[in-house]
Amino acid sequence: MSTTIASEKKQEKATDFMPINGTDYLELYVSNSKQAAHFYKTAFGFKSLAYKGLETGSRELESYVVQQDKIRLVLTSPLKSGTDVGRHIDKHGDGVKVTALWVEDATYAYEEAMKRGAKSYMKPQVEEDDHGKVVRSGIHTYGEVVHIFVERKEYNGVFLPGYRKWESDYQPEPVGLKYVDHMVGNVEEGKMNYWVNFYEEVMGFTQILSFDDKDISTEYTALMSKVMSNGNGRIKFPINEPAPGKKKSQVDEYLEFYEGEGVQHIAVATDDIVKTVSDLKSRGVEFLTVPTTYYDVLTERVGKIDEDIESLSKLGILVDRDDEGYLLQIFTKTVQARPTMFFEIIQRKGATSFGKGNFKALFEAIEREQELRGTL
Ligand code: FE2
Repeated sequence: MSTTIASEKKQEKATDFMPINGTDYLELYVSNSKQAAHFYKTAFGFKSLAYKGLETGSRELESYVVQQDKIRLVLTSPLKSGTDVGRHIDKHGDGVKVTALWVEDATYAYEEAMKRGAKSYMKPQVEEDDHGKVVRSGIHTYGEVVHIFVERKEYNGVFLPGYRKWESDYQPEPVGLKYVDHMVGNVEEGKMNYWVNFYEEVMGFTQILSFDDKDISTEYTALMSKVMSNGNGRIKFPINEPAPGKKKSQVDEYLEFYEGEGVQHIAVATDDIVKTVSDLKSRGVEFLTVPTTYYDVLTERVGKIDEDIESLSKLGILVDRDDEGYLLQIFTKTVQARPTMFFEIIQRKGATSFGKGNFKALFEAIEREQELRGTL
């Protein structure tokens, strides 16, 4: 079996009882929020947006919020021992805790999800300050990850009540990152379909693509993946599970070092991947590379493209084509102490898929890294 596109019938069946405007923010629990914020500003071109900590009356947790176009990252660390955030970091290392979804009505979203079997994380609560009010609610998903619904139509503050503007004279130039294109979860072997059902039943998502181990395998390792999308396509969550192979797959390595299920990568979109990746490289961001032979057969494989192949080859940018167009993509190395989360930079030129034609080259690149770590 190869890639399958969900039938139109299935698309029709799903009623969009859970309209989502987009990704509101991603919150990462990290061991040093101040330094992590500096890293995302310096290396990835985010700007200071908001802050919460001792100076704002937050005695347990400190959060720095950085923004680039529509992407907002909240970086949170504990200010004392014995917090749940500290326990999370001790178990998982740095990683994504919250995927916040921007909705029109956070109470309705919560109630719809709960009615369909979600596990509650946070009952709808109203948060207010001088700039208006926000309603937030939350449900659990795989691992310790949660989805928080954010309703902010009556709010005009800088981020959320409880935060103040983070004034900083240091605001590096952005690198052209625009929005979150998709966010991938790694789940335990045998659990992919469980979470596919969860997104279908509880969140009203539909499965738009599926890859089995014949699509995504190298000589040594394999994984399976299904891509879930919300009604308007603004939220896409591929879900991976490891498949049996001769050696340990990248998903197995993730599950071992994250000590459980979690977010594997965040894909962020750009309109000019050559410029974005050049900028990121010059700021010290490290990427996975493929052998130069990849580019020898590129035109043959994907046909004519606008970009200069020499530039793509120099930067290690990958290309894939589907029925609707093509896409360019590249993956960073993991961005924290443990070999767990990483970023994908993606530019879509019509293509709505995820780069199936690159899987083999890409996974071989990841395996070279795993080999160096002794975790293959
Ligand atoms: Fe991806």
